[in-house]
Amino acid sequence: MGEESPPGPENLAELTGDDAWKQALRDVPREWFVPERAWTTRTGLLERESDPDAWNQAVYTDAPIVTQIDDGSTELTNESPWMTTNHSSSCSAPRFVVHFLDLLAPYFGDRVLEVGTGTGWTAGLLSARLGGDNITSIEVDERVADHARTNLERAGLSPHLVVGDGQKGHPEGAPFDRVHVTCGVREIPYAWVEQTRPGGVIVLPWMHGALDVGHKAKLIVTGNRAVGRFHGECAYMMLRSQREPTQPIEGEVRESEPTVDPRRIAVAGSGLSVWIAGAMPGVSVSDGNHRPDGAFRMVAWDRHGESHARVDYWPEEHSGRVRQRGPRDLWQELEQAYLAWIDRGGPGIERFGLTIDASGQRVWLDRPECLVERMG
Ligand SMILES: C[S@@+](CC[C@H](N)C(=O)[O-])C[C@H]1O[C@@H](n2cnc3c(N)ncnc32)[C@H](O)[C@@H]1O
Repeated sequence: MGEESPPGPENLAELTGDDAWKQALRDVPREWFVPERAWTTRTGLLERESDPDAWNQAVYTDAPIVTQIDDGSTELTNESPWMTTNHSSSCSAPRFVVHFLDLLAPYFGDRVLEVGTGTGWTAGLLSARLGGDNITSIEVDERVADHARTNLERAGLSPHLVVGDGQKGHPEGAPFDRVHVTCGVREIPYAWVEQTRPGGVIVLPWMHGALDVGHKAKLIVTGNRAVGRFHGECAYMMLRSQREPTQPIEGEVRESEPTVDPRRIAVAGSGLSVWIAGAMPGVSVSDGNHRPDGAFRMVAWDRHGESHARVDYWPEEHSGRVRQRGPRDLWQELEQAYLAWIDRGGPGIERFGLTIDASGQRVWLDRPECLVERMG
């Protein structure tokens, strides 16, 4: 029996059916962008020098490779925390990178803005297909951007690299035909719509915070707004300015009993999560977990750090306890949102879409005119 050859770029080329992306994935191998010292949830610390086989295996495995934690203030070590909130830069999982590129589907000659340069791999793939002159990539972290520049130069690729806050887009380079966002976004900035030509495309990981999932969104700019739908789940590290608040929420606790068993909300699926994101914008909801005392616990909090709700439910006793702080009764809002969604027939995610205009983002059901009503 012949020996199995080590995984390589060909494995990643198989992730797409688009010949032009297949070629880019072969011409711009991921290994050119992954640092010598990196980290994955599966392997822990990866060091190319001490274990080149493990490093190579990880590079060509379909998993994200963490390249920075705590915005660079903490070294990557074997003890690095597994909490995704601490991961601040990475080489994203190939399956997501490739699917987003497929969704972007650029035409020859298109000008693309990438938000979140990271290692530079995506900017490299875009440059290989469209020419570096047509690609602008913006990264908020100067040290990360420096590494990406080195990687891209070594690869012989020369997109325009900008250090700055990609939330504002890059007005100096506008208009773009495509905007490709590679960090999680909760509130989609209107600047991206303004900087995209009518008919142009914006793709992004919409990390709305409801029930702990995110969704790949593809929006088409129609002029003064962008409209689009969802294309599967995803998980990305957040745009720096849209991270969750970490400070504790203070105030008197109000106790009550839940009406709805939180497990029903937890398992309802992506249609409900998008409905909640539309009905309760700015509110995050955990997907729930079983506690050692047998309780099922769900938590909801608003992003401005004002209100918080926690429900514990003991299935065997058919009883639970809600503890809430702050001006909003987030648990009751969540129950109402869930029941309103059931009342509409429990629509699946394929029926929902998003519109972004100068007044902000709205979720709709079936047609852009049918907005999901907001609560709170
Ligand atoms: C998942 S990584 C991007 C992966 C990258 N596209 C690649 O191919 O390796 C997300 C990146 O977004 C960057 N980022 C976060 N907030 C940003 C912002 N406001 N503007 C620009 N970049 C940002 C992070 O520093 C991080 O490097």
